[in-house]
Amino acid sequence: MQQQSSSSRRSLLAHSAGVLAITATPAWFTAAQAQTALRPTPSQSEGPFYPIALPSDNDFDLLRTGNAVYQKGQVAWIEGVVTDTKGMPVSGAVVEIWQCDHEGNYHHPRDGGKADPHFQGFGKVAVGKDGRYRFRTMKPAPYSGRTPHIHVKVRLDRKELLTTQLYVAGDQGNDRDSLWRRLDERERAALTRAFTPSADGVRADFPIVVQA
Ligand SMILES: [Fe+2]
Repeated sequence: MQQQSSSSRRSLLAHSAGVLAITATPAWFTAAQAQTALRPTPSQSEGPFYPIALPSDNDFDLLRTGNAVYQKGQVAWIEGVVTDTKGMPVSGAVVEIWQCDHEGNYHHPRDGGKADPHFQGFGKVAVGKDGRYRFRTMKPAPYSGRTPHIHVKVRLDRKELLTTQLYVAGDQGNDRDSLWRRLDERERAALTRAFTPSADGVRADFPIVVQA
């Protein structure tokens, strides 16, 4: 019974594909398809430690603050493309990340002001026409009550398009993290990324889709 319905579905799809192949694809079809093709990256709470004042050094490299170099933890490159739901790069979007240092301390007075001054803790990158961004930072470390994560915010002009958190695939703390557990399967896949070995540390690809 199931087989029958799946084969009739297949023939329907094959039929539709044939029709589409021989007729010109109308513009509305492409737009409608594209809109359903990409789901926006799920949002998550900002958390209590977004910087009150941005550090004077707030570039893409969180491991170099002025002339100081932060050498704790593992070097991690976070990179990807910011697109809208149609897959078009969102030129001019600004991606921000912030995270705690290797000992689990944020640069924030409400977190005790204990963060290592050599760790920049916050960075932002404005994307160009290709939508690409890239950060060099530390593979996120756990702190009391949370699995390792990096906070992410995307702005366009004065508008906040997205606030979310990025997780490390395979980290044993994920299953015990209340925020991570709230995500459904699709949301987990979007926010929980593999950190794979690269020439310099590890690298995570984090595509960001926003409603621009
Ligand atoms: Fe956090």
